Amino acid sequence: MKRACVIGWPIEHSRSPLIHGYWLKKYGIEGSYSKQAVRPENLAEFVRSLAESGFSGCNVTVPHKEAAFALADVREASATAVGAANTLWLEGGKVHAANTDTYGFMTHLGHEARQWQRGTRPVAILGAGGAARAIIYGFLEAGVSDVRIFNRSIGRAADLACHFGARVTAYPWAEFATQSSDANVVVNTTTRGMKGLDDIDLDLSALKSDCVIADIVYVPLETGLLRSARERSLKTVDGLGMLLHQAVPGFEKWFGVKPEVTPELRALLEADVNGAA
Ligand SMILES: NC(=O)c1ccc[n+]([C@@H]2O[C@H](COP(=O)([O-])OP(=O)(O)OC[C@H]3O[C@@H](n4cnc5c(N)ncnc54)[C@H](OP(=O)(O)O)[C@@H]3O)[C@@H](O)[C@H]2O)c1
Repeated sequence: MKRACVIGWPIEHSRSPLIHGYWLKKYGIEGSYSKQAVRPENLAEFVRSLAESGFSGCNVTVPHKEAAFALADVREASATAVGAANTLWLEGGKVHAANTDTYGFMTHLGHEARQWQRGTRPVAILGAGGAARAIIYGFLEAGVSDVRIFNRSIGRAADLACHFGARVTAYPWAEFATQSSDANVVVNTTTRGMKGLDDIDLDLSALKSDCVIADIVYVPLETGLLRSARERSLKTVDGLGMLLHQAVPGFEKWFGVKPEVTPELRALLEADVNGAA
């Protein structure tokens, strides 16, 4: 029987078992996917003894993503670009690491908003944390030539721009309205809009009517930003699809089947999120 898990500290909040449990059942795979609470001081030992413990690999969540990246023997480009790993698997006796947030976000965006253009129009990213890194990498890989980061702390945005090079520029948060009027996509990667936190209150009036607004926060499913965008008849993309799609590569590595993100799986997660919102 193949086994995988998600590790974090704490780990109770993780929805990954719901996703992987659904797929294990759907594909009739004799396997398991569990939550493992791993203290930061025990992470290295846990990763080194994955095989001994009978695991094919694991997902990695807060606060272990950077440490897991550092512990891996082989790192995919996705993990190197972000400097963090959310998926580990064993291959040829080595621990491999990937960051599947990029894949999850870009796949969902492609499904929901085919009209977004991989051209010269700018993409505006709100936030400069770990998730922003993964998403900026995705846009750059897709060929976008102008990515603009807007962050509360401009220094963090500038560091990220420096990391990614000439196609990425940092701007103060207050310049969003003036510097993103021709944006093709706007993505919120900050924690704002999450249940219990203030909504993002941005002036969207200058955006073009074909601009796509994405939010990677998924509790609630419709954040204040997405509501404002919908009220202006802009195309919106929520954060739940990213969560679902980022799980696909890990499942395939551990259990040998590329799983499908079905409407039924989405409904299962929506019910769970709505219960929490
Ligand atoms: N849908 C998915 O699958 C998925 C995947 C990954 C992450 N996420 C979500 O993405 C969000 C960010 O995750 P992360 O790992 O990137 O977090 P992070 O590394 O801690 O970054 C947090 C970002 O939010 C900004 N921020 C926090 N509070 C703010 C405030 N009051 N006003 C303005 N900006 C504020 C921070 O700005 P400063 O730099 O100024 O502090 C920073 O840019 C979380 O809500 C997480 O749940 C979703």
